[in-house]
Amino acid sequence: MVTAQDSHDSAERRLGTVGIAHRQVGRREAVAANLAWWDADADDYQATHGEFLGDADFVWCPEGVREADAALLGDVRDKDVVEIGCGQAACARWLAKAGAHPVALDLSGGMLRHAKQANARTGIDIPLIQASAEELPLAAASMDLACSAFGALPFVSSPETVFAGLHRVLRPGGRWVFAVTHPMRWIFPDDPGPNGLTATQPYFDRTPYVEIDEEGRATYVEYHRTLGDWVRALTAGGFVLEDLIEPEWPEGHLREWGQWSPLRGKLFPGTAIFRTRRADR
Ligand SMILES: C[S@@+](CC[C@H](N)C(=O)[O-])C[C@H]1O[C@@H](n2cnc3c(N)ncnc32)[C@H](O)[C@@H]1O
Repeated sequence: MVTAQDSHDSAERRLGTVGIAHRQVGRREAVAANLAWWDADADDYQATHGEFLGDADFVWCPEGVREADAALLGDVRDKDVVEIGCGQAACARWLAKAGAHPVALDLSGGMLRHAKQANARTGIDIPLIQASAEELPLAAASMDLACSAFGALPFVSSPETVFAGLHRVLRPGGRWVFAVTHPMRWIFPDDPGPNGLTATQPYFDRTPYVEIDEEGRATYVEYHRTLGDWVRALTAGGFVLEDLIEPEWPEGHLREWGQWSPLRGKLFPGTAIFRTRRADR
C-alpha cells in the first residue's frame, strides 16, 4: 500500500507543541498560531504532498478530484481568479495554463516560498500575495472567480469575514468554490486506521481543536463548523449554494493523506466542496 502519512514532527518540535486542548481561540491568536505553524510545516508539507499535488495541477482533495475533470469553476478562460490559501499555488498554475488570469494568496511566507520556487521551475509566474483570507488586499469587483482547496477556511475564526471579503472582491455573479474537511469527520479521531472509525467527539461541539505549547499558547488551530453552519455563513455572506460535492473514495486509490484513507473513504466522506456564486439581483 502506498502511504503518505503526514509527519509534523519537525514543526511540532520547532514550535514546542506539547499537547492538545479544546478551547475558544480568537482571530489574533489563530492567525499567529497558523502563520507560525504553516511556516514551520511548509517544507514537510511539500515533501509529503508535492508530488501528488503537482506543480501545475488542480487537485481539490485527498480523494484526487481534479478540476480538469470536475469543472466546478466552469469555463475559466480569460477569467480573473483568486486562489485562497494557495500553498505552493499549483491550482493557480493550472488555471493559468487553462487560460485564466490567477493570483494566489496565502498567509504563510514559508508556503509562498515554495510557490515562488514552483513559479521559477515551471516558468508560470503567478502573482503571489501574502495576507490572511480575512483581510483580502484586493480591489472591489476585481475577480470573476475564487477558489480554495483546503486553504485558510478550516483555520479562520470567522468564515463570515472571508465570505464578506470575497463578496466585495467578486464581480456580480462571480463563483466561489472551496473544499474543506467534511464536517462529519469531526466526530472521529484524526486517524486513518481502525481507530478512526469510532465516534468520540460530539458533532455539535464547535469548540476549536488547538495544539498548545508549554505555556498553553496555541501552536495550531482548526475550527469545526457543521454543514448547516457553512450554509448559513454562505447565505449571510451573500452567496447562493449551487452544489455540495462529497467526493467518493475512488476504486484503487491507495494513497493516504493524514486521516484520509481507503478504509475510511469507503465508509464516509472526507471532503466537502461547496460550489457557490455571488447572489445578485
Ligand atoms: C492544507 S494547506 C492547503 C494548501 C493548498 N491549497 C493545497 O491544496 O496544497 C492550507 C493552507 O492555508 C493557508 N492558511 C492558513 N490560514 C490562512 C489564512 N488565515 N489566510 C490565508 N491562508 C491561510 C496555509 O498557510 C496553507 O498554505
